[in-house]
Amino acid sequence: MDRVKNKVALVTGGASGIGLSSSALLAKEGAKVVVADYNVDGAKKVAEDIKANGGEAVGIFLDAGNEESIKEAVEFTVKQYGKITVLFNNVGSTNLKKDLDVVNMDLEEWDRLMNLNLKSVLLGSRFAIPYMIENGGGSIINTASMAGFAGDSIRAAYGASKAGVINLTKYIATQYGKENIRCNAVAPGLILTPAAKNNMSQELLDVFGKYNQLPYHGEPEDIGHTVLFLASDESKFITGQTIQVEGGHYLSNPTIPDFREMMKQS
Ligand SMILES: NC(=O)c1ccc[n+]([C@@H]2O[C@H](COP(=O)([O-])OP(=O)(O)OC[C@H]3O[C@@H](n4cnc5c(N)ncnc54)[C@H](O)[C@@H]3O)[C@@H](O)[C@H]2O)c1
Repeated sequence: MDRVKNKVALVTGGASGIGLSSSALLAKEGAKVVVADYNVDGAKKVAEDIKANGGEAVGIFLDAGNEESIKEAVEFTVKQYGKITVLFNNVGSTNLKKDLDVVNMDLEEWDRLMNLNLKSVLLGSRFAIPYMIENGGGSIINTASMAGFAGDSIRAAYGASKAGVINLTKYIATQYGKENIRCNAVAPGLILTPAAKNNMSQELLDVFGKYNQLPYHGEPEDIGHTVLFLASDESKFITGQTIQVEGGHYLSNPTIPDFREMMKQS
């Protein structure tokens, strides 16, 4: 019940999916949580549900693509709960229609994704770090993606922005470690958030499943539990790392499923 007791967390993109699950788990384990989201009604609903379950939370509006809005969310957190000791920079976006291959991608979409996926991590950290230092330290957690490690036929901007998140995580960890601020990232593979469930056919899910080493898909709670660990003092000697939570999808020789199929047939 008390793994993050006395901690105050700001969770961006907290109204849905990974952010929702992380907000609920952090609150269940004793943190006071500011749930910040573009979908302010959704954020308020998440906070109400947390309170109904005996936790402490408040939902607020955030546009993670806007510097002033990020600053306000950090300042709100400190005003509301007296400090900020956990920052979960989780907002991220993708666009399968405009973020294509290098030759054909929409350049405005490149700029939008760099701003929303990468600069938002810089800005959230930039505004929270002075308050964390004032309070003796903190834990910053960023949502990267396995797309930040590997190439793909489309989504070059998304992948590059998430690779940036992975390396910015190391820079923040290096620059503020002596101030007792840790910074880590989590890199999800495919996670069955409501959006993923609604938008993907069973056939497509099966293709992803074929390349997982585990016999099931990831759920938002798989990321939420990793975030909880990184927010808690249980991970107090871990910094600058990106934890891959992806069911072994990128673990081994990618031809293995095809060889298994060939072995069955021979
Ligand atoms: N679901 C996956 O398979 C997967 C895989 C790898 C990485 N990720 C990353 O996980 C993070 C969360 O994604 P999710 O799958 O939980 O998505 P989601 O759509 O379920 O939740 C995203 C939340 O962010 C909010 N949001 C969007 N734009 C915003 C903005 N400008 N300002 C504030 N809030 C905004 C949305 O309203 C929503 O509540 C993203 O960074 C995404 O890139 C997800």
